[in-house]
Amino acid sequence: MRVAVIGGGAVAQRRHLPEYAENPNAEIAGVLDFNMDRAKELAEIYGGRVYGSMEEVLSDGSVDAVSVCTPNATHAEYSIKALEAGKHVLVEKPMALSLQETRAMMAARERSGRTMMLGHNQRLIRAHTKAKELLKAGSIGELLFFQSSFKHPGPETWSADPGADTWFFQKDKANFGVMGDLGAHKIDLIRYLTDSEIKSVFADMRTLDKKYADGCPIELEDNAVCMFNMENGLPGIMHYSWTNYGREDNSTIIYGTKGVMKIFGDYADDIVLEMRDGIQVKYTVGGIATNANQTKSGVIDEFIAALLEGREPIVTAVDGHNTLAVIETAMRSAREKKWLDIAY
Ligand SMILES: NC(=O)c1ccc[n+]([C@@H]2O[C@H](COP(=O)([O-])OP(=O)(O)OC[C@H]3O[C@@H](n4cnc5c(N)ncnc54)[C@H](O)[C@@H]3O)[C@@H](O)[C@H]2O)c1
Repeated sequence: MRVAVIGGGAVAQRRHLPEYAENPNAEIAGVLDFNMDRAKELAEIYGGRVYGSMEEVLSDGSVDAVSVCTPNATHAEYSIKALEAGKHVLVEKPMALSLQETRAMMAARERSGRTMMLGHNQRLIRAHTKAKELLKAGSIGELLFFQSSFKHPGPETWSADPGADTWFFQKDKANFGVMGDLGAHKIDLIRYLTDSEIKSVFADMRTLDKKYADGCPIELEDNAVCMFNMENGLPGIMHYSWTNYGREDNSTIIYGTKGVMKIFGDYADDIVLEMRDGIQVKYTVGGIATNANQTKSGVIDEFIAALLEGREPIVTAVDGHNTLAVIETAMRSAREKKWLDIAY
């Protein structure tokens, strides 16, 4: 599979490009980036050509698929154009800026008959696939409650163009603050772990600390707290934060009638089951990547395998759409200060 990478920033450099380069069934056809020097540098490292425009990518008949790794505002446009040109699409999260856009992306996918995968990598982390297996096997009994967190110091040091004026802090490019950036991961994860959709949400969002270079607070939220009810009756809470200046927190705790499952909690092991009778069961299955310490995401291998096997990938366009529906409704809940059913 020959793949063009659109956007050569942090996520492309740390995951997409190296993981395509490592995959024996993938070949990097080239890189498109606004920043031509960056695209040239990456093409020198990974091979392939430097594209001057999206039109050049679309008219390159040797390209089977694209990875859309640009800021959120371009996800819909680039994905739809690629599908219309007959390319398969792997698009980063959040899927787009609105449900209007995600619907247009899904319609383009339908029309094209091509594959679309979302970059929600959390469900590919080994500890999460193992946790799902354990939950299915009833390891902690009936589920009672979940609590999940994604908290780190913020995207302004992660981006390939770091600094307080990063696109992540600009509404026209990102649309959502931490809710879209980190919330997207944990919303998709809980849907995956519980095989259920989120039914309703109550959210509170704040801008506690992030400021632009001129000292003004950013226009997007840097902290979000959500209370959820799932379709299967399970309640839970989540906190996403860009102002955790301590150790990154990527934990999920699930409470059941027979015990508690802690994934990436305070223990050295990836999963610890604290059973009601006091026994602890521990699983070490591969750890988690942090911003500072990247490990293979598995997203690229899954995308390429799905294309070669002609099957749906583990994260579909519907997963991206349903996750965005929760994000959108949570944003509205925070504004209206009330519980809302998710508008899918
Ligand atoms: N799955 C994950 O865990 C994960 C992690 C980080 C980022 N992301 C997502 O990946 C996307 C990119 O994030 P990033 O961290 O790589 O950002 P980044 O700021 O590091 O890189 C963005 C790149 O896109 C280029 N660019 C901007 N607009 C462009 C355009 N219109 N056409 C071509 N190139 C353009 C920039 O020059 C830059 O090189 C975002 O949607 C983000 O939410 C996902």
